[in-house]
Amino acid sequence: METEVLKPSIEVLKKAAELIKRGEVVGIPTETVYGLAANAYDSKACAKIFEAKGRPQDNPLIIHISSLDMLRNSVREIPPLALTLADNFWSGPLTMIFPKKDIVPDTTSGGLDTVAVRMPDNEDTLNLIEMCGFPLAAPSANLSGSPSPTSADHVYNDMKGRIPLIIDGGECEKGVESTVICFTDNGTAVKILRPGAVTEEMLSQFCKVETDKNVFAKPQENEKVISPGVKYKHYSPKAEIIIIETDDEKALAEFLNSKKQENVYGVIFGNEQGIEINTLSYGITAEEQAHNLFALLRRTDELGVKTAYVRCPEKNGVGTAVFNRLLRAAAFNIIKI
Ligand code: TXA
Ligand code: MG
Repeated sequence: METEVLKPSIEVLKKAAELIKRGEVVGIPTETVYGLAANAYDSKACAKIFEAKGRPQDNPLIIHISSLDMLRNSVREIPPLALTLADNFWSGPLTMIFPKKDIVPDTTSGGLDTVAVRMPDNEDTLNLIEMCGFPLAAPSANLSGSPSPTSADHVYNDMKGRIPLIIDGGECEKGVESTVICFTDNGTAVKILRPGAVTEEMLSQFCKVETDKNVFAKPQENEKVISPGVKYKHYSPKAEIIIIETDDEKALAEFLNSKKQENVYGVIFGNEQGIEINTLSYGITAEEQAHNLFALLRRTDELGVKTAYVRCPEKNGVGTAVFNRLLRAAAFNIIKI
């Protein structure tokens, strides 16, 4: 199959909608990462997503909507708190989990009785969903296990020959996937299953918020997890990733300089002094780091990096999302100095 990469226009969106209505899979831009989209109500079409990604069948998909009507059509119960959060954070990087209606097939929900829903903040993609008239199921558009794609190039790299069309909406603004929450305490509180650009601090303005322990911990083998995604190896480039946690920049420089060797890199914020080994920088603020992280992990592959020592981000705000992704890319390998 030939894979076209096209900039969004009315014609291109129409073409994408036609392909999706016929049961095909299309690469779409969102404000978080690129998605691999198919008709969320069509079991066969969603099966093609799993095939294109090489994704385990029990890992459920997020469905992307363009209106609250599509939410009502897809889920059985909507707590009032969900409408408040939708009002404040949609369209945007917040995914909420609801009990699903039968119209959402088991293939989409990974066999669960629930479905994850979000309204993405991308005008072209919202128009595309409108044109289709049904929600689009879309996981991140990477091969399963690889870093999520934040540009059409990344999608093309992973998906060429596997899907007919990628809509090139430029670089994704946020760079990390949406915050995933479920409701607790009879729909009056929430639990964060995956941190993202909608932070615990932001959600706390509206309700009680807790963060699932698996956000920063490695699930035990055979542990029953709420979000199946946390079980799988994630975001892994070929390089070995090791997180270095320290507040002491002199100690960081000394540690990295002791590792000077071909194909060994330090991944730093970019304002550190005295580092003599190869470096890549991923930005000073958590927002910059989130925006750059996945492109940087892919860059280590292009450079043939053997080991990358990555400076640990701040563990608050959007930094929690960066830290959560890095922990998985590093297979929880973290050194404190
Ligand atoms: O920003 C995003 O969320 C991107 C863009 C494309 O929208 N999508 C994305 O999808 O990251 P994916 O499939 O790569 O990650 C979805 C996560 C997985 O960890 C999955 O286990 C969890 O959401 N999830 C989906 N449905 C769920 C459900 N019903 N219950 C619990 N977790 C669920
Ligand atoms: Mg993913």
